[in-house]
Amino acid sequence: MGRKVIIAPRTEEFVDRCASLMAESLRQAIATSGVATAALSGGSTVRAPYEKLASTGGIDWRRVLIFFGDDRFVDLDNPYSNYGQARLALIDRVPVPPQNVFPLPVKAANPAEGAREYERIIRETMGVPEPNIPIFDLIHLGMGPDGHTASLFPFSTALSDSASSGLVRMNHAGLAPWVDRVTFSFALINNARRILISATGKNKAGRVKEVLEGGQLDSKRIPVAGVKPEHGELIWLLDSDAASKLGAAALTP
Ligand code: 6PG
Repeated sequence: MGRKVIIAPRTEEFVDRCASLMAESLRQAIATSGVATAALSGGSTVRAPYEKLASTGGIDWRRVLIFFGDDRFVDLDNPYSNYGQARLALIDRVPVPPQNVFPLPVKAANPAEGAREYERIIRETMGVPEPNIPIFDLIHLGMGPDGHTASLFPFSTALSDSASSGLVRMNHAGLAPWVDRVTFSFALINNARRILISATGKNKAGRVKEVLEGGQLDSKRIPVAGVKPEHGELIWLLDSDAASKLGAAALTP
């Protein structure tokens, strides 16, 4: 279905558009199959869109299953937890049944075991045994100024394209907070029906230009360049600062 670049110049527009794109995915999935599977992102960019999504109508939250594309391997009430941020911004504000929310199993013995357990939970919940790959209706991602996405950091071990590493992997932090992470792999991310990458700020403009205009890139150096849906849709949602170095070519559908 290809790639789409949407620029929402002002913050308010960006927040509204991000929430409406997510809501659209959830409604469409529920209408099609009776359930919507979504993987949320961490980071500061997504906080306001999640709060906006919480006040967006027309979503049957009883039919939404919420996972996390990555998280820090910390207690769920730790301020570093992506689940904890999403709980405050979205989950506690909508009638999603608690049993429909799947935080990272941070009580596992270690991040690697947590990753394996999370993959088991995803497979079991979505009814997708090995060797098939679960298809998320929506995976929401951010991007760091270094081009990382989820917790796929440049030149990190989780970028390995070895299937034996699993669909969900542990990774060491590539930036603060310096805690171990668990992250979806490219194989799982790229099997989604819709991938939404949202980025704001001038500090990301250089990377955004490189990824959207730079042709074939090394995803080990710029992991977000490895986000290429196998059969779904990729949407980049940018504010005018993050899009400020793009030429017209990157904006054509
Ligand atoms: C995380 C996120 C990470 C985030 C980017 C962008 O665990 O921190 O999943 O991938 O989305 O680092 O973060 P900001 O939105 O804070 O710039």
